[in-house]
Amino acid sequence: MRACVALAVGAVLFGLGAARAQAPAAPPGPLPPVVAPADNPGSAAKVELGRLLFWDPRLSGNGSTSCASCHLPALGMGERSPVSRGYPGTIHWRNSQTVWNAAHYERLFWDGAVGSLEAQAESAATGAVAGNGNPAMMEMRLRFVPEYVRRFRAVFGTEWPRLTHAWQAIAAFERTLVSDPARVPFDRWVAGDRDALSPAAQRGWALFSGKAGCIRCHEGPLFSDQRFHALGVPRLPQADAHVLLQVTARWQNLQRGVSREQYASGDDDLGLEYLTRDPRDRGKFRTPSLRELRHTAPYMHNGAFATLREVIDFFDRGGGDAAARPAWLQPLGLSDDDKRDLVAFLESLSMDELPAMPAPELPPTRPLPAAGAHDGR
Ligand code: HEC
Ligand code: HEC
Repeated sequence: MRACVALAVGAVLFGLGAARAQAPAAPPGPLPPVVAPADNPGSAAKVELGRLLFWDPRLSGNGSTSCASCHLPALGMGERSPVSRGYPGTIHWRNSQTVWNAAHYERLFWDGAVGSLEAQAESAATGAVAGNGNPAMMEMRLRFVPEYVRRFRAVFGTEWPRLTHAWQAIAAFERTLVSDPARVPFDRWVAGDRDALSPAAQRGWALFSGKAGCIRCHEGPLFSDQRFHALGVPRLPQADAHVLLQVTARWQNLQRGVSREQYASGDDDLGLEYLTRDPRDRGKFRTPSLRELRHTAPYMHNGAFATLREVIDFFDRGGGDAAARPAWLQPLGLSDDDKRDLVAFLESLSMDELPAMPAPELPPTRPLPAAGAHDGR
């Protein structure tokens, strides 16, 4: 009898020990509160102004293209096409990133080109393949919208709207676009709701944080190390036939001052190398957050993968061809069931339903009453 008990206790201990050895890392909790920069604290009035401006096509070259043209609420604040539609007459060369949780990144864009949401908004509204707006012209347009004049004055205390304040207001609005943990199954599960996650998603989490090694790069509450890695994502097949995409890629490479040899050799996206000028950073892109993926297909910097299953197949092969690919990125030997479990886990990081975000009604432009009344500079 005593031997029996000892055996049973031993089995339990052994069982626990084995479980602990294989136990996944502590699951990351929900996202922490967003921290606004000291020179741009948020307020309800600023956020509301930013929301209007996000939808306002007057912040673009010909008044056709607002931020929301390429960041559609119903598409997870992204677009459905592999690369973005671009400014009319152009096509973008990268996948439109979601604005959900962008407030948590230290550097924005796939290659980390800008360091704040304020600078990002300016870059988006003026960039030739995004908003293509002339700054002085856009600022002048805002000054002809009486409601904006009132709102900018109330929020920023200036007599006339200023463009730098427009970027601040848009950034303040974007800082409110953070996943609601009450709507995210994984966050609910971590908070103690044991039924929030299907068994498949739980097995997927174990793979993600164990055998599949995803957590080495997709770590913390954002599921991103905020670092840059070259995975060798394949070229978008459409690129070979798409003249406008090739025009943009060549143009981007010229703008960014690549070497003559590099320019001549093709239209590759060099990623982080543009910023660092270090060829060892060639093809490195920022690890994206894995939140809200259910709503933001297609995936990767060039939208090369249409589904999460395709992304996982890619990692299962050990990634693609890139000189700077980490050597430890190796084929994973995942079974079909493993892949399904991983997809279930990834999907559990998205809100069940996106909050409704109807387009606001934009305040009208009005002619100014008399010459000389518009002396604000
Ligand atoms: C023509 C389409 C288009 C328009 C217009 C546009 N964007 Fe984007 N946006 C993109 C694409 C494409 C990217 C990724 C670009 C890159 O990495 O080079 C992006 C990236 C971003 C990011 C970075 C997210 C991250 O994870 O780093 C934010 C934030 C953003 N856009 C906000 C805005 C705002 C604000 C405006 C309006 C002022 C705007 N966008 C206008 C297509 C667009
Ligand atoms: C070496 C670091 C690293 C590892 C390991 C890694 N990823 Fe990634 N992941 C990235 C980077 C970097 C990108 C963006 C690559 C690009 O666009 O070129 C990415 C992109 C993704 C995307 C696309 C997200 C989007 O918004 O487009 C998904 C999904 C994803 N990874 C899931 C996984 C899964 C699942 C695993 C484990 C099987 C994994 N990753 C392992 C770094 C990593």
